[in-house]
Amino acid sequence: MSLRLGDIAPDFEQDSSLGRIHFHEWLGDSWGVLFSHPADFTPVCTTELGLTAKLADEFAKRNVKTIALSVDTQEHHVDWIKDINETQAAKVGFPILADGDRKVSQLYDMIHPNASETVTVRSLFVIDPKKKVRLFITYPASTGRNFDEVLRVIDSLQLTDNYSVATPGNWKDGDDVVIVPSLKDEEVLKQKFPKGYKAIRPYLRMTPQPNK
Ligand code: BEZ
Repeated sequence: MSLRLGDIAPDFEQDSSLGRIHFHEWLGDSWGVLFSHPADFTPVCTTELGLTAKLADEFAKRNVKTIALSVDTQEHHVDWIKDINETQAAKVGFPILADGDRKVSQLYDMIHPNASETVTVRSLFVIDPKKKVRLFITYPASTGRNFDEVLRVIDSLQLTDNYSVATPGNWKDGDDVVIVPSLKDEEVLKQKFPKGYKAIRPYLRMTPQPNK
């Protein structure tokens, strides 16, 4: 059965380029990004993993651990990491799961047989510190993902978990946000949004990002 938002991300134990990983234990109190790619030593995947490595500080700032996956072997991963580091001017410090037995791929529904019977598509899951799935995206093998978008969604999730706001289309960190429609009490609005807000419609109220 496929995973849905709010479900607990399945726990697993699997080998990786950095040794055996017990997933929930490895996540600890961090957020997680678990993402699959079709195969090692392929061009798009090489750029994606290089990008993730170069964004390490951005992920760390948000308390996010990243972990990649393909069905290739641990030895392949270790060799490929040398190539990624060399060609992408990066330093891959995160683990790549060696999911040769498809254990994790099946738990997270990462193999889409009508796309490929044998390898994983580009699935990506954002998991919160309570181990809940908060985002999933699936891209075809031919399209590399936008990791700035992944960071943008994590910013939105972390903001909206802490304030009574939601983020509008194309929002990015620092832009105005919308007040959740369920919040109507004037006194509560004043207290929660001391910078004020603009009611364009009763249901469409914009306010400066509260944590800035
Ligand atoms: C790639 O990562 O470059 C790739 C993998 C599978 C199919 C097409 C491209």
